[in-house]
Amino acid sequence: MTVGVLIDRLEEFRKGVLKYREMSEEDQGLPFNGSVGMGSSPSTALRETLCQQFALIDEHWRPKVVAELNGQEVKLVKFKGEFPWHHHDTEDEMFLVHRGTMQVEFRTHTVTLGDGQFCVVPRGVEHRTLATEEAEVLIFEPAATRNTGNVEDETFTAPNGVRM
Ligand code: NI
Repeated sequence: MTVGVLIDRLEEFRKGVLKYREMSEEDQGLPFNGSVGMGSSPSTALRETLCQQFALIDEHWRPKVVAELNGQEVKLVKFKGEFPWHHHDTEDEMFLVHRGTMQVEFRTHTVTLGDGQFCVVPRGVEHRTLATEEAEVLIFEPAATRNTGNVEDETFTAPNGVRM
């Protein structure tokens, strides 16, 4: 996967979301039920929106696990300010913005992401995340990935596996 925003995939994703919103509640249940809750049934998932989940988070830079699949975790996190430079030796990580604007800064360039945009940071590539105003972000990465990667930071290194 190359560094950067995958605009074509994003467009496909957006069309999917629009189509999903036009579906009846019954049809929305399967096969994609919009679930963000751990082990939610479709009927529960319809009441648990991402907005509601993010509203429960009252701290910055502390990811909360909301789903697990195939050894990966989906985490919700609020960003505000500057995160330390780091890399992950063995994990690619994906950032998907739910609401707000964030930057993924690399040593060579910076990627700006708004609502619905995402970026995959390949393993081994040094990066940091920034947000001037608070941003709500989903992270997809293997379970037990340390948020600060190779860096141990007193303020920013978050405990792993913390659920909503
Ligand atoms: Ni990282």
